[in-house]
Amino acid sequence: MNKFLIKGQTPLRGTVSVNGAKNAAVAILPAAALINGKCRIENLPNISDISRCCEILELLGAKITFITPHEIEIDCTNVEEKEIPVDITRKFRASYYFIGTLLGRFGRASVGFPGGCNFGSRPIDQHIKGFEALGAKVNCESGMIYANSEEMTGNSVYLDVVSVGATINIMIAAVLVPGITTIENAAKEPHIVDLANFLNTMGANIKGAGTDVIKITGVTELRGNATYSIVPDQIEAGTFMIAAAASKGDIVITNCITKHLDPISAKLIEMGINVEESEDGDKIRVYADNRPSKANIKTLPYPGFPTDMQPQMAVLLSLANGTSYLTEGVYDSRFQYTEELKKLGAIIRVEGKTACIEGVESLSGCPVTATDLRAGAALIIAGICAEGETEVYGIEHVDRGYERIAERFKELGADITRISE
Ligand code: EPU
Repeated sequence: MNKFLIKGQTPLRGTVSVNGAKNAAVAILPAAALINGKCRIENLPNISDISRCCEILELLGAKITFITPHEIEIDCTNVEEKEIPVDITRKFRASYYFIGTLLGRFGRASVGFPGGCNFGSRPIDQHIKGFEALGAKVNCESGMIYANSEEMTGNSVYLDVVSVGATINIMIAAVLVPGITTIENAAKEPHIVDLANFLNTMGANIKGAGTDVIKITGVTELRGNATYSIVPDQIEAGTFMIAAAASKGDIVITNCITKHLDPISAKLIEMGINVEESEDGDKIRVYADNRPSKANIKTLPYPGFPTDMQPQMAVLLSLANGTSYLTEGVYDSRFQYTEELKKLGAIIRVEGKTACIEGVESLSGCPVTATDLRAGAALIIAGICAEGETEVYGIEHVDRGYERIAERFKELGADITRISE
């Protein structure tokens, strides 16, 4: 079993550069298969979710050439409609974007159910509602999703819940569909805007991404033959911001978009942490000398405080002065990791969708297990702050979304080692 071994209580200091956004990249790679030709993608994070996207693209007949670990050329000229089996799709959430791609390009798709982090029920009814509005018939049986259509036409879709995945999947499916598709109550995350920018660069006609109404005017083909650079990862940057604050360190985070970090910065400032943004909005410095003060936080779709920062923030609140309330506003259940934080000495009581966190002076190291990706990041931060040794198991979750995480924390002064047993 692989684990991270962390010797704690080291303030993190130095500079770290943010990689391309996982949740943009895992949408852009499937969308690239709409192109009847080649494209180049830069600033790609080197993480296991990307390897899995590439595996599916190759299964469909795409030719992928890695120019560097962060830059690829994809030739989708020979992509065909093929079944994508559930043993590949269940390894990550974004596998379901291939439904949008295959439906949009070929009018039919057979794709296994997606996997991803376990936050209770994660329905895909809004994706299906969108595909059906475009004219597809969708059946789910034996772990597979089958979507078929004789003819698709643009239509209006109102999302009953603000869903990142449904917004992306409907956008991908609609790009090549004749007529106008309107997504109302759309998600507004930076990765939605990034996907729209990528598709427009390749020849699509999408307007309004980043607002709650997205209008897609169908085009006959995507010409490709262009290069696109993926937006910096808001959540990776936020993870380093919290690590700086929790370890009472001083980190400069480069290659980020500070505007995307506003919901995180605002809370850190409220808690007495120092946050300095560069004038051109691409660097942020976070430093702290004292214990942060308590805060009440509710996670919400963008531009609210991101649910994907909830576990990392729980670590900071566990070390804060006073009692904080952390409420989950996106998922039914995202507090499994609190049991692991409690093993490290955090005092947390979860009632429904709210965690009541009584701040303690310090945490103390022990073996813990990551239950999902961001929980893994939180446990690493907790280990860096805790007295003594912390072993973090379940690190395959962390590898899905953070590139060279141990090495990068080590460069900032953490005593962390990846151990393969
Ligand atoms: N929902 C429905 N029906 C649907 C789709 C979603 O009821 O058809 C509900 C979900 O159950 C949830 C809420 O709507 O309660 C929001 O879910 P959303 O669809 O926005 O989430 P997602 O697309 O499955 C993406 C990210 C997650 C991130 C969420 C919210 C990817 C691959 N995943 O998931 O990222 O938490 O948006 O921002 O983009 C992570 O990176 O660690 C991660 C979990």
